[in-house]
Amino acid sequence: MTTVQAIHFPAPPGQASASLRAALAQCRPGHALPRAFYTDPALFAFDMHHFVTAHWHCVGHTSMLAAPGDFFTAELAGESFILVRGDDGAVRALLNVCRHRGARLCDQSQGHAHQGRFVCPYHAWTYDSAGELQTARLSEPDFRTADFPLKQARVHIEEGMIFITLAQQPLGLAHVQEAFAASARVYGWRTAKVAARKTYQMQANWKLVEENYQECYHCGPAHQEYAKRHTYARTEAQREGADTAMRERNAALGIALRDTDFYFRKAQPGQESADSIRSAMVDGVVSGSRDGLGVAPLMGDFKGRGYDGGSSFIDVGPTSNFVAYPDYTLLYRTIPQTVDRTAFELIWLVDSAAQEGVDYQLDALTWLWDHTSQEDRHIIETNQRGVNSVFFEPGPYNPMETYARQYSEWYLEALRAALSPA
Ligand code: FES
Ligand SMILES: [Fe+2]
Repeated sequence: MTTVQAIHFPAPPGQASASLRAALAQCRPGHALPRAFYTDPALFAFDMHHFVTAHWHCVGHTSMLAAPGDFFTAELAGESFILVRGDDGAVRALLNVCRHRGARLCDQSQGHAHQGRFVCPYHAWTYDSAGELQTARLSEPDFRTADFPLKQARVHIEEGMIFITLAQQPLGLAHVQEAFAASARVYGWRTAKVAARKTYQMQANWKLVEENYQECYHCGPAHQEYAKRHTYARTEAQREGADTAMRERNAALGIALRDTDFYFRKAQPGQESADSIRSAMVDGVVSGSRDGLGVAPLMGDFKGRGYDGGSSFIDVGPTSNFVAYPDYTLLYRTIPQTVDRTAFELIWLVDSAAQEGVDYQLDALTWLWDHTSQEDRHIIETNQRGVNSVFFEPGPYNPMETYARQYSEWYLEALRAALSPA
């Protein structure tokens, strides 16, 4: 029986509350967040303790851990975790910190643990794939290895997607299950495999990354290729005809896809948020690709049914975003690192039977979102450089930024709740 030493992210120092109160006092409804939320390390500590680590985060897909001993490492809130499948078949998230003197246990981004063991590169303490310390070289006779298991984050798997949380009282997953059943299940994620992974490093606060992801006001000027393919780059009024056609196509296909819905404001207390938005693509476009045509074999329920001209955007909690086409899915992870450093990782999933070079070409598969993400990195870093100005005064969100505004309000609500007495 594994001893789970759960992790609790440390609380920010007491004096950080004063910085947060001052920043909250500057917030104006309907406006972007004040500068301190993107620049103050004390507020970053609040973000991590009261918001980010209170939620669930998708770190990868079960196909990355096909056999016992398979592992990959994932970062969250400046911490590193080893996601590993144990000999018992269970997936665990082990804190990548040796229980001796704290060395980083595993430096590889993915691999297979030799004989199911992780050996610390410093003094060779050796752990099994359940995180139990097996041997500690030359220790005193009364040394008890059982007292030094690796710490662990909690793990949940939904439709093949692996989520972890550091919350003391994890949020429930009813909304996530509902959104996945309504929108994600038809894409066949359970039987998907990872075709590509790419990480984009940015000199920017993590909230600028997520706010940017949540709005498509910038898509017209910043993403010409994306905007040629997705009607989401248009206003709601401009999109209406296309979305009506999408609904009719869904009904004809008998696919129970949820209409536009938004849960950031609707999540029941104690439940993780999840939303799913179904959106038509531009006429003649069936996938996120160079020529608008499919780039990989159809997945899930789309096999035998064909393309339907739509794509789905599914969000879970504050950092996990999914974009699904009938032939591939993209997991888009925002990874907060420090107050002014964030990464996002893109993971492309295709049907597990699809063969690279035969059924799909990597370059064709990754082209649109690699291109779009490089553009995003540029505009997000540009955003941070401007926000760094002491003269920055937050302007109003545009109607096309409704989701970004709701995201900020959701975040502020959590911080306000953290300050108010229980
Ligand atoms: S720090 Fe890992 S064995 Fe010493
Ligand atoms: Fe973008």
